[in-house]
Amino acid sequence: MQTEYIKLDPEHMDKAALKKGALLLRQGEVVAFPTETVYGLGANALDPAGVDKIFLAKGRPGDNPLIVHVAHPGQLKSLVTEIPPGAYALMERFWPGPLTLIFPKSSLVPSNVTGGLNTVALRMPKHPIALALLQEAGVPVAAPSANLSGKPSPTVGEHVWTDLMGKIPLILDGGETQYGVESTVLDLTATPPMILRPGGVTLEEIQEVIGEVRQDPALKENQPPRSPGMKYTHYAPEAEVLIMEGSEQEITSLIVNHYQRLVKTGQKIALLVSEETAQELEHQLVPDYLEILGPRKNLSLVAHRLFSALRHADLHSVDLILIEAFSDQGLGAAVMNRMRKAAGNKVLKS
Ligand code: TXA
Ligand code: MG
Repeated sequence: MQTEYIKLDPEHMDKAALKKGALLLRQGEVVAFPTETVYGLGANALDPAGVDKIFLAKGRPGDNPLIVHVAHPGQLKSLVTEIPPGAYALMERFWPGPLTLIFPKSSLVPSNVTGGLNTVALRMPKHPIALALLQEAGVPVAAPSANLSGKPSPTVGEHVWTDLMGKIPLILDGGETQYGVESTVLDLTATPPMILRPGGVTLEEIQEVIGEVRQDPALKENQPPRSPGMKYTHYAPEAEVLIMEGSEQEITSLIVNHYQRLVKTGQKIALLVSEETAQELEHQLVPDYLEILGPRKNLSLVAHRLFSALRHADLHSVDLILIEAFSDQGLGAAVMNRMRKAAGNKVLKS
């Protein structure tokens, strides 16, 4: 299949390109587009044959449900059978934006969208291109992240091209995504509501609106997670990833020690570290590849750069990525969740 690649300026959108994307969606095709979190691969959520093409292009397991994207909160009514307490307040505060809410699903939603579950995940994205495409299509759009299943999510159009070129008809490139990590998934069918996946909206922000919120215990412990997608290896580059965890005082020597030990095995090693650590490392070693994720306190910058940095390390053909752990508070919960998945939970501590 020929893949068309169109660059769009979010400030001055090319109407013809949006119309082309919307028409493809209505015809049962898939289209990749930017959201404020990561790029999505969309299909008409009410067309099971179109939705099947998402699973095929990504190589995604069929039991991993998709998020349905809506152009406005009113679109939700026909897709759900119940609007649990707190839902309106959350939509008011966080939509459009990176919060996905799980509702009991209506019979209108095909079962391949929800991986056979009787619930459906909904979100209204904030990116102007995503919103314009949804409006133009006039249908709800099921869209997982637009990466090959298991790979880091795409935060620029080129990542989508690398993964899906030849497999989908159209990529809309809107430049870098803002957040860099996906939406927070909040299950409103649980009492109290439960965070199944940390993301762009933090636990603390949700608590401010609805009070009591729980986190899926499986996010911390070794239990089967409730969100089907969280059980798969995910966000993983080709290189092996090891997390380096230590106090601010110890982290640099921890990295230097492990680097010097591991480099003797002949492996090419990348370091993905905080700005502070990079400064301390400067006079101690010259790694094969180094990328700064951001200052320790600037977790939104770290989130924004994380997936790109993992992909950059692969482009430099390293065998191993040593990555510095960050705080898991606030947006750090999403950062550390993705990092642990990318590393398959492999952590070296001091
Ligand atoms: O930011 C995002 O959410 C991006 C952009 C494109 O919107 N999308 C995204 O989709 O990250 P995906 O498919 O990569 O992740 C969807 C997550 C998975 O962990 C999936 O298991 C969970 O949402 N999910 C979807 N429907 C669910 C449901 N009914 N119950 C529980 N978890 C669900
Ligand atoms: Mg994904």
